[in-house]
Amino acid sequence: MRRFRRLRTSNAMRELVRETRLSKSELIYPMFVSDSIIEKKPIDSMPGIFQYPLDNLYELIKQVSDSEISGVLIFGIPNEKDELATSAYDDNGITQRAIRYIKSEFPKLLVIADICLCEYTSHGHCGVVKDGVILNDQTLPLLCEMAVSMAKAGADIIAPSDMMDGRVAAIRRSLDENGFVYTPIMAYSAKFASVYYTPFRDAAESAPAFGDRRTYQMDSANAREALREISDDIDEGADMVMVKPALPYLDIVHEASKRFDLPLAAYNVSGEYSMVKAAAQLGWIDERRVVMENLTSIKRAGANIIITYHALDAAKWIDEEN
Ligand code: PBG
Ligand code: ZN
Repeated sequence: MRRFRRLRTSNAMRELVRETRLSKSELIYPMFVSDSIIEKKPIDSMPGIFQYPLDNLYELIKQVSDSEISGVLIFGIPNEKDELATSAYDDNGITQRAIRYIKSEFPKLLVIADICLCEYTSHGHCGVVKDGVILNDQTLPLLCEMAVSMAKAGADIIAPSDMMDGRVAAIRRSLDENGFVYTPIMAYSAKFASVYYTPFRDAAESAPAFGDRRTYQMDSANAREALREISDDIDEGADMVMVKPALPYLDIVHEASKRFDLPLAAYNVSGEYSMVKAAAQLGWIDERRVVMENLTSIKRAGANIIITYHALDAAKWIDEEN
């Protein structure tokens, strides 16, 4: 008889043969900065997550820096929104100011700028809208301007999340033309139209005012199309690619990690986070254990970078396990 149980007899033995270990350096923490608040404001649907005013950002960034994770993914919420998302590419916009502040206080922390118009448009869509249609090619120049503006502010990585076609090539070209040849692009390549983003839209105040995002984000039923999206973004010049959400799409993460050889990120999104927090608050599940199991699964599937609202807690738990 084969006795698999021989290697499970003690904690030391299990640790010896463990195949997947989480490390702090692969974690990224998403954060929200708002221009219209003066105190940090809890997000009801995401327990433990807050919007911060720029003036109170130090507390959070210090925590991130002390945790020794690699960096943050920053989302800005402007106090004025309009049809063309003007504040998205204003060099003095809330996100740009926040990036400058973070890089001046903690230069070693990586700052990733999410490039999308939905937090900045009055209609909440990710592109320019005409007659109820979200226009692709007319959106690209605005995304390019936004990317360059974020790079100027000091963003280390540009992460387009809008799902317009051709954006990676367009943004790469604009970055290069503006002297940012060393600023990498992390493309949200396989981003699905997911109900798991619901709590995020409270946090970022970016719910679409009409319709939904299904004409630009992917249909959750499609795996082969996701691989085509990823391969196309690589051809267009992406330096890293992403699958989003993470846990319901581990098949895509796994296949992408086998097929493509550049760094692969997975975004453990707001709804995945909030479901864990809700069950934990009700006493139905052990939060620490479920978070570590979830994050380990994402890594085991093949992700090299994990973007997660659990990052600060996970960093603490990773330390305690070592
Ligand atoms: C912007 C964007 C979204 C998320 C990240 N960037 C929301 C959306 O597409 O509606 C979702 C992140 C999360 O749910 O945690 N387009
Ligand atoms: Zn968007």
